Amino acid sequence: MSRLKVLVLHGPNLNLLGGRDPDIYGSLTLEQVNEALKERGSNLRAEVDCFQSNHEGLLADRIQEAAHVYDGLLINPAALTHYSYVLRDTLAACGLPLVEVHLSNIYAREAFRQHSVISPVAGGVICGLGMDSYLLGLEALIRLIEKS
Ligand code: DQA
Repeated sequence: MSRLKVLVLHGPNLNLLGGRDPDIYGSLTLEQVNEALKERGSNLRAEVDCFQSNHEGLLADRIQEAAHVYDGLLINPAALTHYSYVLRDTLAACGLPLVEVHLSNIYAREAFRQHSVISPVAGGVICGLGMDSYLLGLEALIRLIEKS
């Protein structure tokens, strides 16, 4: 079987991982997260590309381009989770299998974080497990793609 292609998207401020609120988000840098995802992907016969942006429009552009190139998307939309109808509409329009992940348990945090406008267009959501949210999210996404 040919290798699957997966795009991992990270939203605003996730470039600061490692130094940003390590009690909440852990001490791994974004580069380390991406390396771990690529390694897990290669064990699951999936090629993993990663993209981070602080800009909603750049994420939307990348998602539109991804529709023709990738088999599925793994996204941590960061703060955009809670209010970005742009991201939600773009993800819905692109139609690729989608898993949403969060490092922290957004349901155990401030009220504004407890609602995701992205979840209704995702195949599944994993949160609260730190780096394992991403790794389990990748595994779940690959299963979703294989079923689709
Ligand atoms: C986050 C949770 C969001 O509320 C926050 O804005 C982030 C990271 C997480 O991974 O736990 O930037 O998505």
